[in-house]
Amino acid sequence: MKQLIKRLIPSALLGTVKKQKEATATALTQLMGRSRWLAKLGYGVLSSLFSRENYVTAAGIRRHHQLDKEPTQQSHARLRRNTHRLEKGLTMQPRREVFGLAYLGQLVDDFRSQASKGNACQEELQWANSVLTEYFSFADESEPAIKRARARFLACGYVGNQQNYSPYERQTSLQSRVEFDEFKKLAMQRRSVRWFTDERVPRSLVERAMQAATLAPSACNRQPFNVYIIDEDDALKRAVKQPMGTAGWEHNIPMLAVFVGDFSCFEAARDRHVPYIDASLAAMNFMLALETLGLASCPINWPDIEIRERRMAKLLKLDAWQRPIMCMAIGYAQEEGGIAFSQKKLPEQLIRYVE
Ligand SMILES: Cc1cc2nc3c(=O)[nH]c(=O)nc-3n(C[C@H](O)[C@H](O)[C@H](O)COP(=O)(O)O)c2cc1C
Repeated sequence: MKQLIKRLIPSALLGTVKKQKEATATALTQLMGRSRWLAKLGYGVLSSLFSRENYVTAAGIRRHHQLDKEPTQQSHARLRRNTHRLEKGLTMQPRREVFGLAYLGQLVDDFRSQASKGNACQEELQWANSVLTEYFSFADESEPAIKRARARFLACGYVGNQQNYSPYERQTSLQSRVEFDEFKKLAMQRRSVRWFTDERVPRSLVERAMQAATLAPSACNRQPFNVYIIDEDDALKRAVKQPMGTAGWEHNIPMLAVFVGDFSCFEAARDRHVPYIDASLAAMNFMLALETLGLASCPINWPDIEIRERRMAKLLKLDAWQRPIMCMAIGYAQEEGGIAFSQKKLPEQLIRYVE
C-alpha cells in the first residue's frame, strides 16, 4: 500500500505533506506542554503514543499476580524483593528484634512455594534461606506473627548448602586494587565503537562480561530484565535494522545485544521505570567489562515506534509484559575505525549543590 501511494503521488508532494504533518504534531505538542490537563487530554485521549507503555505496565502487573499459580517460575520477583527488605532490616543500626511484619508471612509462603518446585533457582533460595535463618535466630518470638512465620519456615525442612548469604560487615568485603586513575582510563577507553572487524565474538566472553553486568545495583534486587544475544546471520540481519540509529553501519555489526525489561516483576505501576533504570545500570557494567576483555560496543537507542516494537517482539518471541529497552552492538573494534569525539559535559555543568 505504502509503495503504491509512493508511486502514484509525486515525491515532492509527499515530502510537503510529511513536513506539514510533523509541524502540526509539534505545534500540538507545544500546546499540550502548557498545562498538565492539556497534556493529559493530548497523550491520554487524543494520541495513542503512550499506549504501549500503559499496556506493558498493566500486562506486567497482571502477570505478576498470576505468577503464584505458575509452576515454572525459576526466579521469583516478590521473593527477591521481600528477602531484600528483610536483609536491609538486618543491617539497621540498631538492629530491631521486631520488624518486617508487613511482608514476613508472604516471604515465608513464597519461600515454601519456591522450595517445593524442582526448577527454582537454588542460589536465590539459598539467599532467602540464609536471610530468614538469620532473622529468626534473633527476632522476638513473643510477637505472634514472628512465631507463626518461624514455625512455617522450619516446617518446610529446606536443606540448603553451606553458603551463607546473610549480611556481612563492610570490612570483610572484597577490595579491588583499581585506583581512580586506572578506572578513569577504562572509562575513557570505552567509547561508542561503530566499526568492527568480521571476527566472531565468542559467546564465552559475553557470558564473562555478563558476570560483571549482573553485579550492578537493582531496585529491591529484582533485576527485572533479560539480555537477548543475536549473532546468527539471519536473525542478526533482521535485528540490526530495527533500531533507527544503526543506519549506515548496521551491516558490520557482528553481534547485537537487546536489553529487554520484564514488567512482571512489579505489583504496582509506581515501579514502571525500574526496568529501564536497572537494565541501563547493568548495561554500563557490561560495556566496561567488554572493554577489559578486548571487545568494543555501542549502545543503540530503542525508539518507541509501534511497528519496530512489534517486529522486535516477534523476533525475540517476547511476551506482553516484556519490552526492549536498548540495543547494543558488540564486536572487535577496527583499529583504523573512526570514533566520534563526543565532547563530554564538565563535572561542574552536571553537579548542582543544593544549599
Ligand atoms: C541510550 C543510548 C542510545 C544511543 N543510541 C545510539 C544510536 O542509536 N546510534 C548510535 O550510533 N549511537 C547511539 N548511542 C551512542 C551515543 O551517540 C554515544 O554514547 C555518545 O555520543 C557519547 O559517546 P561515547 O559513547 O563514545 O562516549 C547511544 C547511546 C546511548 C547511551
